Amino acid sequence: MAQKIIAVLVGSLRKESLNRKMAKELMKLSPGSLQLEIIEIGELPLYNQDSDDNPPAAWTEFRDRIKNVHGVMFVTPEYNRSVPGVLKNAIDVGSRPYGKSAWAGKPSAVVSVSPGAIGGFGANHHLRQSMVFLDMPAMQQPEAYIGQAANLFDEHGSLVNESTREFARKFMLAFATWVETVGSS
Ligand SMILES: Cc1cc2nc3c(=O)[nH]c(=O)nc-3n(C[C@H](O)[C@H](O)[C@H](O)COP(=O)(O)O)c2cc1C
Repeated sequence: MAQKIIAVLVGSLRKESLNRKMAKELMKLSPGSLQLEIIEIGELPLYNQDSDDNPPAAWTEFRDRIKNVHGVMFVTPEYNRSVPGVLKNAIDVGSRPYGKSAWAGKPSAVVSVSPGAIGGFGANHHLRQSMVFLDMPAMQQPEAYIGQAANLFDEHGSLVNESTREFARKFMLAFATWVETVGSS
């Protein structure tokens, strides 16, 4: 079975980001049928519809990279009970020009990570709202609201907790099946 290429988008730019740590652990624990790579979104110019006819090179490069993957995994913090602006900007950039969205049909998964108790539930579901419009089939189960995340990693960014590691492994296995089931070849 050919490997499926998966874009990983992290909704935090912070150097010590818990979300980036979680994304890297998920990548390590994923089955061999997936090839995951983080696509950086921090340098994407803010979306402006005036630039649709003459887009910045960074927008075009980003859109092309998304068009070439088989699926997308979002790993995001919650900012003010919603999606951080940097991630929303990347989603908007990828969605245009109208009728040429890079996201259409891409199987996807959402993981939210927070030091708080409810694991970024608000961001997770706000993101899913956009994915409905963008026609990105989003994996329903297992859901991933990773709470109390400040206690989950050691100084090297590795998960300290075997139950979280096991959950991450199962999540990635389910996502691999999801990509095979609903994605195009
Ligand atoms: C602007 C801002 C808004 C935040 N709002 C929320 C929130 O609504 N819910 C929450 O659980 N944490 C919130 N936080 C705390 C973040 O969950 C915390 O900073 C987290 O570590 C960010 O993810 P990162 O470690 O990947 O950067 C907020 C943080 C910032 C900077």
